[in-house]
Amino acid sequence: MTLILPPYQSKLQGWPGLIEAYRSYLPVTEETPVVTLQEGNTPLIPVPAIANQVGRQVEVFVKYDGLNPTGSFKDRGMTLAISKAKEAGAKAVICASTGNTSASAAAYARRGGMRAFVIIPDGYVALGKLAQALLYGAEVLAIKGNFDQALEIVRDVADKYPVTLVNSVNPYRLEGQKTGAFEVVDTLGDAPDWLCIPVGNAGNITAYWMGFCQYHKTGKCDRLPKMMGFQAAGAAPIVQGYPVANPETVASAIRIGNPASWEKAVAAQEASQGNFTPVTDEEILEAYRLLASSEGIFCEPASAASVAGLLKVKDQVPTGARIVCVLTGHGLKDPDVAIKHSHNNQFCQGIEPTIEAVAKIMGF
Ligand code: F0G
Repeated sequence: MTLILPPYQSKLQGWPGLIEAYRSYLPVTEETPVVTLQEGNTPLIPVPAIANQVGRQVEVFVKYDGLNPTGSFKDRGMTLAISKAKEAGAKAVICASTGNTSASAAAYARRGGMRAFVIIPDGYVALGKLAQALLYGAEVLAIKGNFDQALEIVRDVADKYPVTLVNSVNPYRLEGQKTGAFEVVDTLGDAPDWLCIPVGNAGNITAYWMGFCQYHKTGKCDRLPKMMGFQAAGAAPIVQGYPVANPETVASAIRIGNPASWEKAVAAQEASQGNFTPVTDEEILEAYRLLASSEGIFCEPASAASVAGLLKVKDQVPTGARIVCVLTGHGLKDPDVAIKHSHNNQFCQGIEPTIEAVAKIMGF
């Protein structure tokens, strides 16, 4: 069954979405019905204020994957997972999520004409993500438990019932997400020295490494980066070496105590001679504010863990290194944290609607 696109589609110029852009690197055929929202092709933005804080003449870029269609990197994996589910005749998909996967699964499943069941930890999903899942038309089941429990449930449900699991244990998710690494190399002309990335369920670090290795094998890059993974200190099972029963962090996206891709992520870190490092909530929020107020880049708290991590281990950065930090999600996903932790004391309310009153407060 092939998706019927409107006839004007084939005449469009520009970015076609990542399945078309990277077709030869992905497990698709002419028969695969491509479900796309033209995800991918996100900017790699220089961040000079961050680079200054690191010093040593480094170059630092952020891969701003919050600019994907549903506001997170999940769309890279979801376009492929949903296209392959549709190819296999699936009528429904299911995922556990701290929020972004649910938003992405909902959008792509509905575009592909499927039901989307999403299981989320009640009370621990950022407002924007919940709003998305609801509006996209997902069937939202909020459990009195955390992400790790939700993931166990959806694995079981997908085993027993005719629904396709679209968490990153679905191999097509990682295949799609590896295109983030392709884009970094395509833009820089080679792999960076370091790739700094937040780690939750550990799928994205695994996918990026797959992408760099595949590009290296085909001669698209000459070297491989060190994979530098950062976990929230209250949810750092890989750093500690054992699962965390009750993970806690302000970065709700990575509030995960038993990551599904644990071994693969450790293999990537070891093969690349990288590292896993914890960052505290305060360090995450500091980087979150710095990115917004110094660089004009608004990401969600979990994403800022990559920059917080870089700043934390800056003494280990080689002079002149080229570093990419992945910003996985958009800041508008989590307006509550933004308002609560902006530390902006220049928000003046209740002002008389006159030029005099306004000018006075402006200091004129
Ligand atoms: N950053 C954001 C914004 C995320 O939403 C996630 C994961 C991560 C980083 C970590 O990526 O799991 O591949 O190591 N969010 C998942 C979700 C768990 O359900 O949306 P990871």
